[in-house]
Amino acid sequence: MIVLGIETSCDETGVALYCSERGLLAQQLYSQIKLHADYGGVVPELASRDHVRKIVPLVQETLRQAGIEQSDIDGIAYTRGPGLIGALLVGSSMARSLAYAWQIPAIGVHHMEGHLLAPMLDEPSPSFPFVALLVSGGHSMLVNVQGIGVYEVLGESVDDAAGEAFDKTAKLLGLDYPGGPLLAKLAEKGSGGHYKFPRPMTDRPGLDMSFSGLKTFVANTIKKEADDEQTHANIAYAFQEAVVDTLLIKCRRALKQTGLKRIVMAGGVAANKMLREEFAKASQKDKFEVFYPSFEYCTDNGAMIAYAGCKRLVAGETTPLNSKSLPRWSLEELDAI
Ligand code: KG4
Ligand code: ZN
Repeated sequence: MIVLGIETSCDETGVALYCSERGLLAQQLYSQIKLHADYGGVVPELASRDHVRKIVPLVQETLRQAGIEQSDIDGIAYTRGPGLIGALLVGSSMARSLAYAWQIPAIGVHHMEGHLLAPMLDEPSPSFPFVALLVSGGHSMLVNVQGIGVYEVLGESVDDAAGEAFDKTAKLLGLDYPGGPLLAKLAEKGSGGHYKFPRPMTDRPGLDMSFSGLKTFVANTIKKEADDEQTHANIAYAFQEAVVDTLLIKCRRALKQTGLKRIVMAGGVAANKMLREEFAKASQKDKFEVFYPSFEYCTDNGAMIAYAGCKRLVAGETTPLNSKSLPRWSLEELDAI
């Protein structure tokens, strides 16, 4: 089965073709980063309009790249939620219109399911069950994943998502949007031992997380310290270290609580080098496995939507064409396949 996947939940237009037998056939990604940079964050109305501009050429280019005709496509997957409603509507209108015109089924995919299945696009891919650490710009979650659609949310951020904390802290340090990768780069010039930031919500039981206090801590530190690049780099290092350490403490706890021995990291923050390195070290020490998607599948992309949609379509699931997009949507509402 060949599935066309369309992702438009936020500021990336992603289109991909995934084949259940041959794997990923082609993909195209357009990032709106430059469009939103001047505003220091995603402007929803501009995001929707840009998706409208890019979606048709990207679909055409993806088909051309794969060398296939529309008649070869068996189903269309699109991000149904969660995300920005205007942005979601562009992808869903496109996907449902094509499904109607081409008389093939459509499937509305949960964006976070896309992220948590993204490591399956790489080799070796993790097998079920595992604990998923989903860390993106919009969500931070620990999920007990027993199979596709069998999700138990073990904990989540009670305020800012991990990526959001990276972006807001980066802004405090005078970096552009989205600041996550830029803060990580600045931290490479810094070193440890200068500052000790808190590890929020690790001194009490439970798997929920909180990152907004860290940002305030950074703001206060910046005010007190010298305004030069080396100081900023050391602050960035200490912030990153605190986030990574907090996530590691929570993941160790989740493994203990579930009795599982495998962590799968996903979402934009999973691209963070220090996070990957620290988890790799911990996995050797504590004898658990850790998987992360390749960098291109960490942040938003069409391939993960095409993959998740293909799995569901192959299992016989479809989404009626009159279904609404869901800006808020819990992972736990999904059906098992
Ligand atoms: O998953 P994603 O592309 O979009 C959402 O669904 O939110 O994640 C984007 C987030 C942004 O907050 C970005 O700053 C962060 O992931 N990010 C990083 C890195 N690369 C992207 N954060 C820390 N270190 C990185 N290397
Ligand atoms: Zn995402």
